[in-house]
Amino acid sequence: MAEHVDRLGEEHPPIPVDSADYSMKRPEVLAEQFGPVLTYMARVELEVERNVLELNLLLPDPPAVDQHFYADVWLPQEIHHGLLLDKLQRLAGLPPSDPDLSSIEFSYRVLGALGRWSPVQDVSRMLYYLTGVATEQSAILAYNKLHQGLLDLGEEAVASTIIAPIRRQEPGHFAYYKIAAQGLWTELSQWQKWLIRTLRRHTFEPVGAYTKKQWAEFGAVMHHLGITTEDGTGVSRYAQQIGRVEMELLWAQRQGLRVPTYIVDSLKSAAKLAAADRSVAG
Ligand SMILES: [Fe+2]
Ligand SMILES: [Fe+2]
Repeated sequence: MAEHVDRLGEEHPPIPVDSADYSMKRPEVLAEQFGPVLTYMARVELEVERNVLELNLLLPDPPAVDQHFYADVWLPQEIHHGLLLDKLQRLAGLPPSDPDLSSIEFSYRVLGALGRWSPVQDVSRMLYYLTGVATEQSAILAYNKLHQGLLDLGEEAVASTIIAPIRRQEPGHFAYYKIAAQGLWTELSQWQKWLIRTLRRHTFEPVGAYTKKQWAEFGAVMHHLGITTEDGTGVSRYAQQIGRVEMELLWAQRQGLRVPTYIVDSLKSAAKLAAADRSVAG
């Protein structure tokens, strides 16, 4: 695990903001098609700065390898993703990103205080890994769609010098959380597993969606990436991909279930909120 983190750090230094070619053929078309995606993803990437503050509270005594990963490898990489996307959206004529870097939910303080007792901290750590798995998987799929969408618009420069290099850094994050989650799960006792399943069911949210407005914005991201389809199968498939690791780990005993219900339900309500916004706007 420590080797994986060291390798990620060495092979994937933060992408210099000036290394990209921001030239666009039709910035206004790009902004219209993918503006909501760029805005959302730039914010989520930049908000990792707050996520690290939350982690410091949540895990009062984290394993050294976790701390090394999120502070030295993950944080600088993600911030640069945010800076690249933010520069792109500004050059496309969109407003600059407005990330929330300071509001920390009360629950982190509570869990952090309880986490001084290590069995509780293990529960928090497991939730952190599961969130990481779902988040990074969402990011990988979104960047794939965005990359293809930009190529379809004929915007090769930004697709290949911004989105492609960002996309290359996400699978390493995903692998980290997945391996960490699989390892920790086998060490947990029955009450810890029960608590994790229960908390996960009640607190799952799409990446970066903390308010109702942000849920709708996430729905708009799925719409603009072409994930949302008339019959709802697109969102279900996306939920299945995001929830695959969690399904196998937490809910393996539920034969026949293909995706945790709370994941598919969350994504569907995000899609519904966005559809409602569109019909108001249209
Ligand atoms: Fe990222
Ligand atoms: Fe990532």
